[in-house]
Parts: sequence; structure tokens; C-alpha cells
Amino acid sequence: MNRFIFLLVMSGLLSCGGEGAPQALRAQGQAACSTPATSETVRIMQGLKPHCEGCHAQGARGYFASTETFQALLVSDVRMVKPGSPDDSELVRLLEGRGTGAFKQMPIGQKSYAQLVADGTATLSVAEVRAWIQGLATQQRDSRPDPDAPRITRLSATQMQRALYQQLGLSHEDFFTAANEYGIPMAESRGDDFYPLQPPDALPTPRQNATAERYHALGGGSVLNQVSQDRSAAPSFVLTLTQVSQRWCRRALAKTGNQALFSTGTPRTANPEDVKATLRRWSLHFLGERFTDAQVEALYQDVFVPLATPTDTEPAYVGVCSYFIRHPHWIFY
Ligand code: HEC
Repeated sequence: MNRFIFLLVMSGLLSCGGEGAPQALRAQGQAACSTPATSETVRIMQGLKPHCEGCHAQGARGYFASTETFQALLVSDVRMVKPGSPDDSELVRLLEGRGTGAFKQMPIGQKSYAQLVADGTATLSVAEVRAWIQGLATQQRDSRPDPDAPRITRLSATQMQRALYQQLGLSHEDFFTAANEYGIPMAESRGDDFYPLQPPDALPTPRQNATAERYHALGGGSVLNQVSQDRSAAPSFVLTLTQVSQRWCRRALAKTGNQALFSTGTPRTANPEDVKATLRRWSLHFLGERFTDAQVEALYQDVFVPLATPTDTEPAYVGVCSYFIRHPHWIFY
């Protein structure tokens, strides 16, 4: 058999992006398709890392975010690393201060990496990087998107409304009463002071405009109003979430019999130990993560203490409650 055809057939069999790829391989995703990082690759990455990760920890050039990104974005990119040919590798040229692209050197700044090594600031030598590339086998890069890659999305306005109802122990009835217009059921706002928030397309339809305006300000869309959804973190969204979270937290804390924030028997005092126990509970309740002692202490000192007065803990509890709702881990998933 012609060697070329043989290679084609072999690579067809070995490749994992094809239609015929066995289910098991597909399920394993990225790991099954691209060359994994060798221990020497990991050592090189660790050596370079302190001088690079400040600018390369995320995004399309987030080489130093993890071993996987280093391998997938840099090592498997022949434009940067050419196995067996250090001299043809842009990475080496960048380290030596003779890059051929938009940048002459990495790190950007006064000194090239090679100079940092000469100064003793960096310990991994360029010779070691060259030797690593010299001995590197051909790398296979997976062209498919990684199904496990983290994707970040902001909660939609509807998701926020639902999550807040649930986490704060509030419900439709706290904001609306039933009304009728020409025989059509409507939701009558109990008052704009409560900051009702409801999609205009909801049934029963909110009767007051302000409820829909607040919903749109949070980025919610509507077919009826011909407004498209906006999932960006625009200023109107941040402002509205701040107002709604504070107002609704106050409402939830004032609601008699509400177990959502303080279940029966949980002390609601200004005693530091009680407060910190609550903050720990709320970090799980709102964010699904357990705050460390240091995080709890910081939140207590920075948010709770300045808002508490000797006679009234309410503003302080409202402050920390809405802190969790404006936390990036609450807003983005
Ligand atoms: C002060 C910030 C900074 C530091 C530190 C830094 N880089 Fe960069 N790097 C950049 C920027 C900015 C770009 C261009 C980004 C772009 O085009 O999106 C870049 C691009 C690159 C590229 C792509 C070059 C190309 O021609 O496409 C590589 C490879 C790279 N850096 C490697 C490194 C390595 C390795 C280190 C550590 C030795 C490092 N960088 C340190 C800011 C930095």
C-alpha cells in the first residue's frame, strides 16, 4: 500500500473528531483527542509561569490558566511551538527578544525573558526551553470545541426573579393582588415601594408599567413590548439589581413567619458569633459555596459592622443579604 494512503487511513482511524468515532472516545472529549502534556511540558510551564501568568491567565491567550490550556493553546500550536525545531518556534524567539509578530519579546516590558534569566530573576533557562522543544513529539490538536470548557452566562431577568422569590421566601402575592380589566385577569401591584418585577408577557399580566420597566432594566425581553433580551452586565442592570436586592432583602427580613433567611430557632442578633454563623449559612444559601473564616470575617467587618447600630441590626442584615445577591458568583454561572 502506498505509504501516504496508509498514513491517511491510520490518521482517520486515530482521529476522534470523525463521525465514526466510537462513543466512548467522544464521551471522553478533549482528553481523548489531543496530545496530553508530558511531565517535561509541565516543568517548562511551571518555570515560565511566574513571568507570564499575570497577562495570560484567561481568554484566547490564557496559556497559563492550567496545564490543559498551556498544552492546547501554546504547545499544540505549531505557529508558536514547532516540535523538533526550536529555531522555528515563535515562543523561543519571543523569549530571546526577536519575535517576528506584533511583539518582539515576552514578557512585554523592559527586559526579554533571556535577560531576566541572565539577571537571575528567572530560573528556567532558554536552553532548557530549546531542549524541550527539540525533544517534543508531533502534537495533535483537537479542532473541536471542548464541551467541558467553562462558559459564563449572566442569569436572565426571569431567572433572577425566580431565584430571589425562592431564596428570600417571597412570592407573587407579596407584590400583587388579583384584579380584573374587562373580564381579563390582571396582576395589580401592591405598590411601587415594593419594587415589583414581572415580565409584561406574564399571565396574569402586570397592570402597572413600572413592573415591566424594572424587568427590562434587568435585561429581560418581551414579545409583547418587542424588547429583545440583554444578558450583558449593563449599568442599568447593575443599578436595578442593587435596588431590587436591597428592597427585597428588607421585605424578606420583615415578613413574618419567613423561614428562608432565618429558620426557626436561628438567632438574629448583633452578637458577632451569631452574625458570622448566619453569613456562613448565607454563603451556602445564595452562592452554594462555603465561605472561609477569612471571607466571613471580611464581610462582617466591611459590610455588617458599619451598617449596624446599637438598636437596629436590620440595615446590616439587609446589607449582607444584598451583598450576596450582587456577588459575581450569584449573577454569573
Ligand atoms: C505584561 C503582560 C504580558 C506578559 C507578562 C507576558 N505577555 Fe505574552 N502577550 C501579551 C500581550 C498583550 C500579547 C498580545 C495579545 C493578543 O494579541 O491578543 C501577548 C502575546 C503572547 C503570545 C502570542 C504571540 C503572537 O505572535 O501571537 C505568546 C506566545 C506569549 N504572549 C507568550 C508569553 C510568555 C511565554 C510570557 C512569559 C515569558 C508572556 N507572554 C508574558 C502580554 C504579556
